[in-house]
Amino acid sequence: MSESAAVGIEPQGHDRYLVRLELPDGRECPVLVGDGVRRELAGVLPPRVRRVAIVTQEGVGVDVDPGVEHRVFTIGDGEAHKTLATIGMLCEEFASWGLTRTDCVVGVGGGLVTDVAGFAAAVYHRGIPVVHVATTLLAQIDAAVGGKTGVTLPQGKNRVGAFWQPSAVLCDTETLATLPEREWRCGLGELAKYHWLGGGRLDELPLPERVARCVAIKAAVVASDEREAGRRALLNYGHTLGHALEVAGRHDLRHGEAVGIGLVYAAELARALGRIDPDAVEEHRRVVSGYGLSTELPPGVDPEELLVLMGRDKKVLDAGLTFVLDGPAGLEVVEGVDPLVVRRTLEECT
Ligand SMILES: NC(=O)c1ccc[n+]([C@@H]2O[C@H](COP(=O)([O-])OP(=O)(O)OC[C@H]3O[C@@H](n4cnc5c(N)ncnc54)[C@H](O)[C@@H]3O)[C@@H](O)[C@H]2O)c1
Repeated sequence: MSESAAVGIEPQGHDRYLVRLELPDGRECPVLVGDGVRRELAGVLPPRVRRVAIVTQEGVGVDVDPGVEHRVFTIGDGEAHKTLATIGMLCEEFASWGLTRTDCVVGVGGGLVTDVAGFAAAVYHRGIPVVHVATTLLAQIDAAVGGKTGVTLPQGKNRVGAFWQPSAVLCDTETLATLPEREWRCGLGELAKYHWLGGGRLDELPLPERVARCVAIKAAVVASDEREAGRRALLNYGHTLGHALEVAGRHDLRHGEAVGIGLVYAAELARALGRIDPDAVEEHRRVVSGYGLSTELPPGVDPEELLVLMGRDKKVLDAGLTFVLDGPAGLEVVEGVDPLVVRRTLEECT
């Protein structure tokens, strides 16, 4: 545990860890990680809470007891339910029940639930406290921590939202036992990126400590850049190609799977630009494939289409593309990457 202690993880007994996310305004969000930590919910609610609105999905199947009067509000499963209509429905149901501004919302689920519950809490009564009980690997190591909330518009994913920090986050690793295989793999794609964000050999750690280390890394990044003006962009390592593959849409790839491929591509691009050597590229392949994820671009990809999707529009393409890339000083945001090199590297990877 000595290395973990160095990155701000406080052991709390056997395989249980506390990470304190310190926000620039002085507030603190405790994140508790370990088997069974959902049972600590009553103890992490803000003072004076009389009622708790639990937002979850049917398939999550995780019961929590906030220790005060509570009611369960179920939202639909799948990205199609991550809408303003769902936020409107929740807020109306909260109001009909009589949830007040000193009460609390608790999101119990994956990243979809925590994004939606967080956004509903951010706007209901102009903002009431929210606590997350994260039940997918992706939510535990990423979505539930950091205060980004939101929903999707027909015009784009996560286009409306708010920065709304939870009062506490519980990452109960016991709940991951029921996660479908593919959801687990999606989390592993995001987990892989933390190897280059200071996580080191995460694959050698027991699960709760591994989750805690990712949380600590994310907490440190968020603490230094809550509103994504700079360093927080590094959390998007592997996402430029990952997003493009998802948007291209024909490849039956989930987000984390696409990020795994995006990590290896980003390494190949960094090598093509002379930033890293072939051994570092190999390390990317080793980590990503070690998590059972593909390192190859899917068959039939169109490099031109991916280039345009990564550049978003023609003007950007002319000025060069922006990537998070590995290099001698670790990860950095690199602007103005020559589209010809981006394209040639894509072609070499297909
Ligand atoms: N706010 C952020 O910083 C941030 C970061 C990354 C991703 N996200 C968002 O997170 C969402 C994806 O999150 P996700 O990958 O957790 O998917 P998800 O929330 O859609 O959950 C995936 C599936 O797993 C089920 N599930 C959840 N917990 C379970 C459990 N313990 N056992 C069995 N089934 C369970 C859910 O009901 C769902 O069917 C996206 O909407 C994405 O935009 C947000």
